[in-house]
Amino acid sequence: MKIAIIGLGYVGLPLALEFAKKYQVVGFDISNQRIAQLQNGIDRTNETTSVEIQKVLNKDSNGIGLFLTSNVDFIKDSQIYIVTVPTPITIAKTPDLDPLKRASKMIGKFLSNDDIVIYESTVYPGCTEEVCVPILENTSGLVFNKDFFCGYSPERINPGDKINTLTKIKKVTSGSNTAIARKVDDLYKSIITAGTHLASSIKVAEASKVIENAQRDVNISFVNELALIFDRIGIDTNEVLEAAATKWNFLHYKPGLVGGHCISVDPYYLAYKAEELGYHPAVLLSGRRVNDQMGKFVGEKVIKLMINKGFTIKNSNILLLGITFKENCPDIRNSKIIDIHTELLSYGANVDVYDPLAVIDEVKAEFDINLIKDVNNIDYDAVIFAVSHDNFLLDEFQDLVIDKRIIFDLKDMLDSPYVDGCL
Ligand SMILES: NC(=O)c1ccc[n+]([C@@H]2O[C@H](COP(=O)([O-])OP(=O)(O)OC[C@H]3O[C@@H](n4cnc5c(N)ncnc54)[C@H](O)[C@@H]3O)[C@@H](O)[C@H]2O)c1
Repeated sequence: MKIAIIGLGYVGLPLALEFAKKYQVVGFDISNQRIAQLQNGIDRTNETTSVEIQKVLNKDSNGIGLFLTSNVDFIKDSQIYIVTVPTPITIAKTPDLDPLKRASKMIGKFLSNDDIVIYESTVYPGCTEEVCVPILENTSGLVFNKDFFCGYSPERINPGDKINTLTKIKKVTSGSNTAIARKVDDLYKSIITAGTHLASSIKVAEASKVIENAQRDVNISFVNELALIFDRIGIDTNEVLEAAATKWNFLHYKPGLVGGHCISVDPYYLAYKAEELGYHPAVLLSGRRVNDQMGKFVGEKVIKLMINKGFTIKNSNILLLGITFKENCPDIRNSKIIDIHTELLSYGANVDVYDPLAVIDEVKAEFDINLIKDVNNIDYDAVIFAVSHDNFLLDEFQDLVIDKRIIFDLKDMLDSPYVDGCL
């Protein structure tokens, strides 16, 4: 059996590597640069190592292993196509299904009888059958659920997390009829040691993924709203949460920025579908609104702290530690730290950004920020610990910055005597 994985990013690469231990796998990506890097054992996402890539690049005598390509001709003759392309949102915050549609059109050209196309990209319930299947039918000339079949199995990996990795996370599976659902489930069972959960339909599986992230977004928005209220009251949010958490059924969430390609995006997919059906999702969207204002709030809070301690803000020097959307991960997509940066600049401060994990060129292209390469030389007036990368937790790193004059700890990373402000 030949499996084609379409899109080798945070989701597609680990999946391709895992399947390639047991099957003949073609890993396809439209980015020549990504393929060239992977062929040299370089994974810009840091989700795997050169050794892990090299292990499967050499096919064994049965053809089992991974072949990497950006030449679409090599995906033909596959029996299983797994789609792991991005599903971002447009500027108007509606689903941008272009990558998904383009991938479906491409697969449609190669589809033959009995093939199965499995989507892993996060979408709204109904997207696979309402958007992707018609494209597959039109380009292939084949009939859905007669000539070819579909599955949906959402990805749950957590980039930067080296403990809960692909095979250790239970995987939801589904198929376009009972027999195919079982086949899809068996396929994933063969690599996922944590097991699978076979959902009753593709729509149920699609919905299960999108609500995982929407639930997190809404829960975080609640504590973020508390942070906005308690700031006005003048009490410490973390102290309140610590006290409340002594009750057995209090949920543990911390205030913070919500960015990235998943939690800050997926609620809009569900909201889009709800609105299409005439329901305006008040809770989902209010969560998004609260979470989206937290970067500006942090920026203002730092400025107020500085003013209260007698600093002149114009031309002050502020160090922002971290630009990626989360800890120990180089992904800068939808990072909300840019909102802190923008707010500080609007007051006339000079802001340096240091992040040893982010890629300098990507940050320049995305945010027009030149990352600094070390933090030794400037006497900063304020330092903001914005992302809890492991490097920033090291004592020797903290010694470098702790004597600076104002310390704002966004991620509850430091011992409180050093901290002047937090969320
Ligand atoms: N990153 C995560 O933590 C995560 C977790 C779970 C689910 N997801 C979902 O998985 C999907 C993929 O996310 P990701 O983070 O891996 O994205 P990514 O941007 O890291 O990777 C996507 C890859 O697909 C390639 N690509 C784009 N269009 C293509 C096409 N038409 N044909 C072939 N390749 C194409 C890109 O070049 C890129 O390498 C999204 O729907 C996302 O919501 C992501």
